[in-house]
Amino acid sequence: MSAPAQPLVLSVRDLQTEYRSGRGTVQAVRGVDLTLQRGEILGLVGESGSGKSVTCMSIIKLLKRGGHITSGVAEFNGRDLLQLSERQLEKVRGEKIAVVFQDPMSALNPTMTVGKQIVEVLLQHRKMNKKAARARAVELFELVRIPSALSRIDSYPHEFSGGMRQRVMIAIALACDPDILIADEPTTALDVTIQRQILALLKELRDRLGMAIILVTHDLGVIAETADRVMVLYGGQVMEEAAVADLFDAPQHPYTRGLLAAIPDPREAGRPLSPVRGSPPDMRTPPLGCPFVPRCPQAMRICQTPVPLYTADDNPALRAGQRARCWRADVAAPAFNSEATS
Ligand SMILES: Nc1ncnc2c1ncn2[C@@H]1O[C@H](COP(=O)(O)OP(=O)(O)OP(=O)(O)O)[C@@H](O)[C@H]1O
Ligand SMILES: [Mg+2]
Repeated sequence: MSAPAQPLVLSVRDLQTEYRSGRGTVQAVRGVDLTLQRGEILGLVGESGSGKSVTCMSIIKLLKRGGHITSGVAEFNGRDLLQLSERQLEKVRGEKIAVVFQDPMSALNPTMTVGKQIVEVLLQHRKMNKKAARARAVELFELVRIPSALSRIDSYPHEFSGGMRQRVMIAIALACDPDILIADEPTTALDVTIQRQILALLKELRDRLGMAIILVTHDLGVIAETADRVMVLYGGQVMEEAAVADLFDAPQHPYTRGLLAAIPDPREAGRPLSPVRGSPPDMRTPPLGCPFVPRCPQAMRICQTPVPLYTADDNPALRAGQRARCWRADVAAPAFNSEATS
């Protein structure tokens, strides 16, 4: 049963991003469409190099050297983020769209107490005096369930465990009540128990604060446990998108099926994604058609040509809101016969 639709906070259309270097141009993101509703947790999943991080970083234009957005729109509250000046973007990044990365240590300043780091964010973005900012910092620590918040606020980053450091990062990210939290592999470096606690915290914060979350992971167990909707990326494109239950019940794309088959129990968090046999394409020369063809047990000749994104309007086998970029999802496609070679 799906929840009633909420207003869209983000609408990304035809996003294309490349990385240019002396060794060629990597077409990292190739026409990604993405929507995010208020209060929704959208999972982005796919193997390493599929374009998850570049998609997220493009939305807030935080690309590393050599990264260029060559096309697309990223509408946030009616404004195209991709058209904003650097100054306007800094405001959006500080106040409206916050990011939490895999390794909190690299994002925290080791020479400053964590409390001071939160207070600095509040002083910079909110018109608060120091006393009020400190009180708010304690409140944020309580919100992310750091025990003994009042005393822990004066500790340095290295005095926290990995899980607690990630809570500190989340507290900093929440300082200005963002509308969107982008969490890029926020639990990958943590052990399974701590990972579960952080994922539970993200869900609780979504429920309490109503923010939307983009959760990047290569772990389908994390998706099953945490996300409402999921997009499967491969070769810089959306291979499939669906409500989480529909993706597990009725996967359409052979790549999705391969990912699911690689985990014995998809509801079990913490298992790394075992890769489907074969390796991803060289994104300097991506294929015209489906990038999964060389690894696909169901490939047909037509799969070498550009593939439309099929929806339930095209094929009743797809669920409402499900999209699949696969010629096999065409109602006219021959039924798959594993004995036959097409
Ligand atoms: N700074 C960079 N310079 C050059 N190429 C890059 C850079 N960052 C990413 N890429 C390339 O862009 C493509 C997409 O990378 P991206 O980081 O989005 O993958 P990902 O899905 O986040 O993978 P992972 O699970 O490993 O984090 C890859 O081919 C990658 O090699
Ligand atoms: Mg990444």
